[in-house]
Parts: sequence; C-alpha cells; structure tokens
Amino acid sequence: ASSYTESLCHRAPVIPVLVVDDIDAAIPLAQALVTGGLPVLEVTLRTPVAMSVIREMSQVPGGIVGAGTVLTPEDAENAKAAGAQFAVSPGATDRLLGACEEIGLPILPGAATASEAMALLERGYTTQKFFPAEVAGGAAMLKSLSSPLPQILFCPTGGISHENAHDYLALPNVACVGGSWVAPKDLLRAGDWGRILELAKEAARLH
Ligand code: 3PG
Repeated sequence: ASSYTESLCHRAPVIPVLVVDDIDAAIPLAQALVTGGLPVLEVTLRTPVAMSVIREMSQVPGGIVGAGTVLTPEDAENAKAAGAQFAVSPGATDRLLGACEEIGLPILPGAATASEAMALLERGYTTQKFFPAEVAGGAAMLKSLSSPLPQILFCPTGGISHENAHDYLALPNVACVGGSWVAPKDLLRAGDWGRILELAKEAARLH
C-alpha cells in the first residue's frame, strides 16, 4: 500500500504543509514551491476553499498535489474528486484506510507510537507520517523506533523547521519531513512569493 507514498517522500527533503485561505494564492504559491525544488505539496483540508485550492494547484506543471488533514471517507472522496494525487492524515482509522483503498487514493497515514506503527504495518503501510513529531518524542523517538521497526519509513511532521529538520533527515528511517514553515501565514497573506521561493530553495537543500 506504500510504494507510491514512499516514492513521494524521496522526491524532496520537505513536503510543504499548506493552509490556504485564498484561492487566488493557489497558483503563485504552488509555482514558487515547485520552482524552489519542492514538487510534492500537501494542501490541508482546514479552510473552506481547500478543495478549490487543490483543483487550482493541480494545474501547475511539475507539482504533485495531495490533501492533508484527511479525516473521513468523505474527505478522501472529495479530495480525489478535486484532483488530489494522495492523502495525508494525522492518524488512521479503519474507515478512512478502507475508503482510501477502495477509491485508489494513496494515503500517508499517521502514527505516534509503536503499536500504531505496527497496526499500519500489518495493513501494508510501510511509509507513515510521524505526528506530532516534536512533541511525540522527536528525532530521538524515531531513532528508537528504527531498531525494532527498521522496515517503516517515516515522514515526521509537526513542529519541524529549517533549524531541526536535519536531525530527522539524518535518520535511516526518515526520507523527508513535512512542515508549514516554508509557507507561513504572514507571507501567504502578503503574497510574498519571492520570499516563499527562497524558503523553498533553502528547504530543498536540506539533508
Ligand atoms: C500537519 O498538519 O502536519 C502539521 O500541522 C504541520 O505542522 P507544523 O505546522 O508544525 O509544521
């Protein structure tokens, strides 16, 4: 169930987590991030316009647009209909996983403990989101999980920034991290695509 999401995690060191309030921001924001070297984009379903933003961003060449904060089967169906190539969830439920499997929407499901990670592994999810990364134990936690569960690849998200991303990316069980720092609210509001382009370039160079 994981080969597509695994390949996504190898495209760039950072998956931007986007909270977009304004449909008009969709295209220039996606262009800045893709041009900066971050092709995989997670549009969170936390704003009323999120589905329209996914639809718009999907037109940007070179981008791979998915939906984040996918919590229910309905979210997954709507995201797929809007053109999302993948889904991301802070956790996982049987209903959500079942729905994504049924409609063929690859999902990066969240886990924060060994038992959650094992339950996902049993179902074939070898690529998982580790959330909320910083408060759930951070890089030290992921390092500890890599000993008994080396077959799971994680995308940690939650509290990650340019400053601590390297601590995660240096781990053998981390291919990329997720974070909102490359598209902060103030820059989005100001429409400062130039600065977001710079942040994306800096993030693309992380290792
Ligand atoms: C997520 O949805 O994965 C997180 O809200 C992103 O976390 P951050 O805003 O701390 O980067």
